[in-house]
Amino acid sequence: MRIISPSLLAANFSNISKDIKAVEKAGANRLHLDVMDGHYVPALTFGPFIIEAIRKITNCHLETHLMIENAHKTLDQYINAGSDTIIIHLENSKNPIEELKYIKKRNKIAGIALNPNTNEKLLLPLINHLDYILIMSVYPGKGGQSFINDIIVKMNNIISMTKGLDITIAVDGGVNLNTINKVFSTGIDIAIVGSGLFNTNNISKRFDNLLNA
Ligand code: DX5
Ligand code: ZN
Repeated sequence: MRIISPSLLAANFSNISKDIKAVEKAGANRLHLDVMDGHYVPALTFGPFIIEAIRKITNCHLETHLMIENAHKTLDQYINAGSDTIIIHLENSKNPIEELKYIKKRNKIAGIALNPNTNEKLLLPLINHLDYILIMSVYPGKGGQSFINDIIVKMNNIISMTKGLDITIAVDGGVNLNTINKVFSTGIDIAIVGSGLFNTNNISKRFDNLLNA
């Protein structure tokens, strides 16, 4: 079964509840929240305050993707805001094992994100502390970029590395009607879809088309 996690980055924030209801109605049971701080990536999006507001209007599983510096100092804020999964970036974490352990201690799903140019072998020392791996198929920082094809090799490698382990694998960036089949054919669990889902006036139909592409 394909799982699509809508990335709200591409949704209409002037009427976010409308878009959340639309994806829920289409069958989504999780939402991807891109937190950007203007430092780790140039763009600035939203923080715990907005996540808390989103938490109040949906029962979806909230996966919070932290593209921020010093994420370890703010984990509590994102957990307390109502996130169910917390994803930190391997590249800017000083002590990923400690951070992952902390997320788990707070009974949340502990995830790590890997940029396109980060070697997947760096995951090996962390593998027993991970619940979730977010494979970036674009460089983080904005929506609407093109899927980097070479990432398919990395996806296959990560799937082999995690065989038999209880780790969810997700792919983030450039997933749309044209790329979703090759993404799911690797065996990954979740595709994050932003512009490929929201850039339409019929979200329900698009969601269905992505599931059945
Ligand atoms: C990129 C974000 C993605 C982004 C995906 O930094 O992490 O989640 O919203 O957007 P699309 O699907 O448009 O590439
Ligand atoms: Zn993301």
